[in-house]
Amino acid sequence: MAEPLLALKDLGKQFGGVQAVRDLSFVVGAAEIVGLIGPNGSGKSTSVNLISGTLPPTRGDIHFDGRSVTRLAVSERVPLGLARTFQTTSVFAEFTVREQVLAACHARYRTSALGSVFRSSRARTEAREQAAKTDQILAFVGLSAVGDELSSAISSAQQRLLMIATALATEPRLLLLDEPAAGMVAKERKELAGLIGRIRESGTAVLVIEHHMGLIMEVCSRIVVLNFGQKIAEGTPAEIQQNPAVVDAYLGGASS
Ligand SMILES: Nc1ncnc2c1ncn2[C@@H]1O[C@H](COP(=O)(O)OP(=O)(O)OP(=O)(O)O)[C@@H](O)[C@H]1O
Ligand SMILES: [Mg+2]
Repeated sequence: MAEPLLALKDLGKQFGGVQAVRDLSFVVGAAEIVGLIGPNGSGKSTSVNLISGTLPPTRGDIHFDGRSVTRLAVSERVPLGLARTFQTTSVFAEFTVREQVLAACHARYRTSALGSVFRSSRARTEAREQAAKTDQILAFVGLSAVGDELSSAISSAQQRLLMIATALATEPRLLLLDEPAAGMVAKERKELAGLIGRIRESGTAVLVIEHHMGLIMEVCSRIVVLNFGQKIAEGTPAEIQQNPAVVDAYLGGASS
C-alpha cells in the first residue's frame, strides 16, 4: 500500500484531569472515506481539532502527505490540503452564500505582493477565475439556487452544505467533517451521502464524524471507533456492526 495521506501516531490530548484522546493511531489513505464514531464525549471532535491544528496535542505525532504537521498552525496546514468543518454551523450572516465561498476562494489565491505590480490585468483574471470556481463549487454541493441569499437566511441543512463548500474552496486533499448531517432530515442526509461520495471521486479523502449510523455505514470504507478517548475498534462497516466492544460502548449508557 502507498504511504497514507494522514497518519496519526500515539496522539494524546489532556484537558486538566480529562484525557480526551489517548494513544490514538490510525491512517487515512489518499482516496478513502473513513468514519470516526463513538459515544458523546469520546474524543471525536478533539481528534479533528488536533488534526486540523485548532488544538495542539499533549503528545504524539501527525503526519500529512509525508511530513510531520504536528507543530504547524492551522494557517500553515490549510495550504498543504487540510480543511475542516465544525460541529456547530458558523456562517457570516451579512454575506450571501456566493460571497462567503468567494471569500474562501480568494484566501486560497491571494495575489502576492510582487504580483500586485501587475495588478490591473492579473487581478482581473484572478477575479474571473475565482468567480467561475465559486459557481462550480456551489453547483457541486447543490447550492446554486440560493447563491444570492444571505447565509443566515438559508436552511440549517443548506448552511451545513455551505460550510462544506467553504472548506472545498481551499482545495483540500483531506476534508474533515464534524457531524455534517446534524439537524438534517432523511432526504437531506441521503443527498449529503451522495455529496461525500462525489468529494472522494474528485480526489479528496474524507474523515467524517457522524452519529447517524446509516450515513456512516453507507459512505465509509473503514470506520475507527473511539470510547473514552481510545480507539476500541477499526474495520469495515460490516466488521464494526458485529464488533462486541462497539456494541457494548453504544449500549453501555451512551446517549446515541
Ligand atoms: N476545550 C476543552 N476543554 C476541556 N475539556 C474539553 C475541551 N474539549 C473537549 N473536552 C472534553 O474532552 C472530552 C472529549 O470531548 P469531544 O468534544 O472530543 O467529544 P466528542 O466525541 O466530539 O463528543 P460529541 O459526540 O458530544 O460531539 C470530553 O470529556 C469533553 O468534555
Ligand atoms: Mg464532537
